[in-house]
Amino acid sequence: MPEGKKRILTGDRPTGSLHLGHYVGSLANRVKLQEEYESYIIIADVQALTTHWEKDDNLKRDVFQITGDYLAAGIDPGLSTIFIQSMIPEIHELTMYYSMFTSVNVLRHNPTVKTEAAQHGFSDMTYGFLGYPVSQAADISIFKAHLVPVGEDQIPHIELARKIVRRFNDLYKPVLVEPEVLVGDVPRLIGLDGKAKMSKSLNNAIFLADTADEVWQKIRNAVTDPARIHKTDPGHPEVCTVYEYHRVFNPEEAGEIEDDCRHGHIGCVNCKKKLSGKINQLLEPMRERREKYDYEAIREILLEGTKKAHRVALDTMAEVREAMGINYLD
Ligand code: TRP
Repeated sequence: MPEGKKRILTGDRPTGSLHLGHYVGSLANRVKLQEEYESYIIIADVQALTTHWEKDDNLKRDVFQITGDYLAAGIDPGLSTIFIQSMIPEIHELTMYYSMFTSVNVLRHNPTVKTEAAQHGFSDMTYGFLGYPVSQAADISIFKAHLVPVGEDQIPHIELARKIVRRFNDLYKPVLVEPEVLVGDVPRLIGLDGKAKMSKSLNNAIFLADTADEVWQKIRNAVTDPARIHKTDPGHPEVCTVYEYHRVFNPEEAGEIEDDCRHGHIGCVNCKKKLSGKINQLLEPMRERREKYDYEAIREILLEGTKKAHRVALDTMAEVREAMGINYLD
């Protein structure tokens, strides 16, 4: 990796398969930028424990699943370093130092923390859950990342990371980098059911790992314009999920489809077939790439990636301790 490139740090909690919402929200950006930037991708397994703290038998499976999804999507392990959060103890050390000057009220008012707490039905938040944005600031800043490609729900966390870095640099020494957020072309992809967001837990997602037939079955069953009963009835693309997906995944034909739908010249089944074909065209190369990586190959990528990430984290922590004056015995 040539010196002098700016860095990217981004990642996900391993809580299940990645879907098209992840792809257009941030994964496509990560693939696109991995040559221009020195890229690090964190599998945030400790952060996953903030909501799944009971012994989770799926954790290992999910770590391998998400790594397979990254590789399938086009993350190249020769360009991007994929690593496991729990295996970098310095991240947790830095989190502790940041927590000394981060206010509880700021965390309690974080809109994403609030939404997630409500989703999980937490009436009282655990210390770890409330504090996960602090740990995320450590994830990012220990790599001195300049850019963080994520979905739009992560914006408040990157904002906090910027504030924490600024505060640290001010209090001690300017050794850390203020990160910028980068949100994808489609910050929020609606779900197959027309709900505001595609999400595994809402059961309205097309996964990167779906087969061609699964994709077709899901799209076949998607809600279209309820006012349209006969093929020749004029349609209302603005209320139709399938049309919305055409705009995202089939922009070249979306204008024509909109016109044909409004005039009753294209039926929903035909329109869905076109969309399914287009999405499968996007997923097909992913299916082929996925085949190239078996369990051992993924394990090796994670081992090597974590080793490399650890070296970077060790270097930054040495600077942090020196800046804070807690390197007494050096
Ligand atoms: N909070 C992110 C999510 O839920 C995952 C994450 C953890 C992350 N650490 C990160 C994202 C650092 C970007 C940078 O998807």
